Amino acid sequence: MEAETIKSEVEKRLPAGRFAHVLRVANTAEELARLFGEDPARARTAALLHDVAKAMPKEELREMVLSEGDPQKVLGFHHELWHAPAGALIAEREFGIADRGILNAIRFHTTGRAGMSALEQIIYTADMIEPGRDFPGVEALREESRKSLSGGVAACTAHNLCYLAGKRAGIHPDTLACYNDSLH
Ligand SMILES: [Fe+2]
Ligand SMILES: [Fe+2]
Repeated sequence: MEAETIKSEVEKRLPAGRFAHVLRVANTAEELARLFGEDPARARTAALLHDVAKAMPKEELREMVLSEGDPQKVLGFHHELWHAPAGALIAEREFGIADRGILNAIRFHTTGRAGMSALEQIIYTADMIEPGRDFPGVEALREESRKSLSGGVAACTAHNLCYLAGKRAGIHPDTLACYNDSLH
């Protein structure tokens, strides 16, 4: 499926504000890909699809994640996490994406994980630093992300951990593993 077709199909599934975020993530991901010698087209495709399941009802998300046996065990955590594995499934089943690297970048864009590929790192950080984000500290994350992909992931993951712990939210094991992995 062409990037333009993916774009218009994704637009149909998301509220306008969320779709605008997706376009900003796509531009940021392309920019990071160019900066670090990765394929901008793959980055764009993964970014366009990363939140494709974001507007789906909770129960549908649960069913989708259960359909593959919840291998990452996200269902025990906040439902905000569920759209990532569900999005990877939709990308594969409904958009015909066969590139495992793209599917994994979608699957791990919220939790992160240890040993992320360059493309996974690009989508994970682009999602956090896109120009519409304005949380305190985002500027430092932007700077780190433009110096190196692993540095960007390290900074973003540390930020996420503090944010989640600060509001007494659960921390997915993949996020902890991502954080520990980012220290070396
Ligand atoms: Fe997301
Ligand atoms: Fe997103």
